[in-house]
Amino acid sequence: MADKLFIFDTTLRDGEQVPGCQLNSIEKIEVAKALEGLGVDVIEAGFPVSSPGDFNSVIEISKAVTWPTICALTRAVEKDIDVAAEALQYAKRKRIHTGIGTSDYHIRHKFNSTREEILQRAIACVKYAKRYTEDVEFYAEDAGRTENEYLARVVEAVIKAGATVVNIPDTTGYCLPQQYGAKIGFLRENVKGIQNAVLSTHCHNDLGMATANTIQGVLNGARQVEVTINGIGERAGNTSLEEVAMIFKSHRETGIETNINSRKIYGISRMVSSLMNMPIQPNKAIVGRNAFAHSSGIHQDGVLKNRESYEIIDPKDVGIDDNAILLTARSGRAALKHRLQLLGVELEQGILDKVYEEFLKLADRKKDINDDDVLMLVGKDRTARQRIKLEYLQVTSGVGLKPMAGICLNIAGERFEAAASGNGPVDAAIKAIKSIIHRNMTIQEFLIQAIDKGSDDMGKVHMQVEYENNLYYGFAANTDIIAASAEAFIDAINKFVK
Ligand code: KIV
Ligand code: ZN
Repeated sequence: MADKLFIFDTTLRDGEQVPGCQLNSIEKIEVAKALEGLGVDVIEAGFPVSSPGDFNSVIEISKAVTWPTICALTRAVEKDIDVAAEALQYAKRKRIHTGIGTSDYHIRHKFNSTREEILQRAIACVKYAKRYTEDVEFYAEDAGRTENEYLARVVEAVIKAGATVVNIPDTTGYCLPQQYGAKIGFLRENVKGIQNAVLSTHCHNDLGMATANTIQGVLNGARQVEVTINGIGERAGNTSLEEVAMIFKSHRETGIETNINSRKIYGISRMVSSLMNMPIQPNKAIVGRNAFAHSSGIHQDGVLKNRESYEIIDPKDVGIDDNAILLTARSGRAALKHRLQLLGVELEQGILDKVYEEFLKLADRKKDINDDDVLMLVGKDRTARQRIKLEYLQVTSGVGLKPMAGICLNIAGERFEAAASGNGPVDAAIKAIKSIIHRNMTIQEFLIQAIDKGSDDMGKVHMQVEYENNLYYGFAANTDIIAASAEAFIDAINKFVK
């Protein structure tokens, strides 16, 4: 009989903690609904006490989603738990995720405490959370570096206090797969009452081992995995949902099954990348642009004769359909709507009409419209509501000419014009913008990407701007790469100039 593995998605909590990846409530609801469609069992919707935005998002997601359990994170602090319970009031199924650091690093340096005291705090927070819901998950932060005997004492005590799920995070991404698997195995064997709770993996990717550790955890008895779409998360990220789902789908001999509808993976992956302005590395397993691209002649020949010669997954199984109708200037609204639905985006008729108008303009400039272009158009409608907008940009540059840019910004309805020169047209445009927005901001990272092959392709610009010790991400796409650079800079500025 198949063994069910629960998928706990934390894209909207651990994933969203990445600087610059913050989403507004509407965007979070969009992602939460797509996660529901994908078949996840639990959505960690936020850390309600951390900000009013997180609090509201947990409320709104609880209202918008029906089937998955909605989970809210807390520290082992009564106030956090009270606030989480309030935020979860509309959830049809709710879970409080509470916990504390259990490694000696945390106990001594973070809490200036003792193992005994931390054990008591762990028990107390679980008991307190039980006042609000039966479904309480406990996390032992930095369990990866917690000594196994002490960890087992903590796990046993919190299960006795009522925890229904116990999360064993490798918070720093330190463990080797065999160590992490052994840790889960040790808990299964040495904790009295372990049959009364589900053990959960939560692995970070600092040494590139998050997925391997998660799989070892499951093979040793964990039955919940905490994952994010595209593996996004702080530093090197979390375990990626799509990798775990496809590993167990490909390795039937494990007997492990998930509820994930794998054909929806590609769509939600693009959606999250586009909403969070986080590009997916081209060679990323399962969802990277090159994941199914065979360039060597020998491989191409083999795949054409029999796909399984070089492919272990049919691209269609993750929602990549090579035969999908190409979008061109002759495509109608229905084709655009259909493509958006495949990408997990549902638009109201009025917004669809606006996006379709922009689509036709783009299709006049570019022959084939790909998925990234379509998602960019949806994003453009979102940026149209920003406070600072680019009205026009004119540049002169070329061999023997001094690069110059003239620019007009519309700030909350008022127009501001400026001109500047620079060492190239992009530098000139950025300087012109800076001469209107007088802030001490510096560009820390600037990435220009072209997705397709042709010279008519869209240029995508990702930018990180530092302002008052915080980093803000900006993104824009345009067939004019200088305009895209200026728009990405303005997109970042909109995040801190209110
Ligand atoms: O990585 C971690 O330890 C966490 C916990 C807060 C669950 O994200
Ligand atoms: Zn984490």
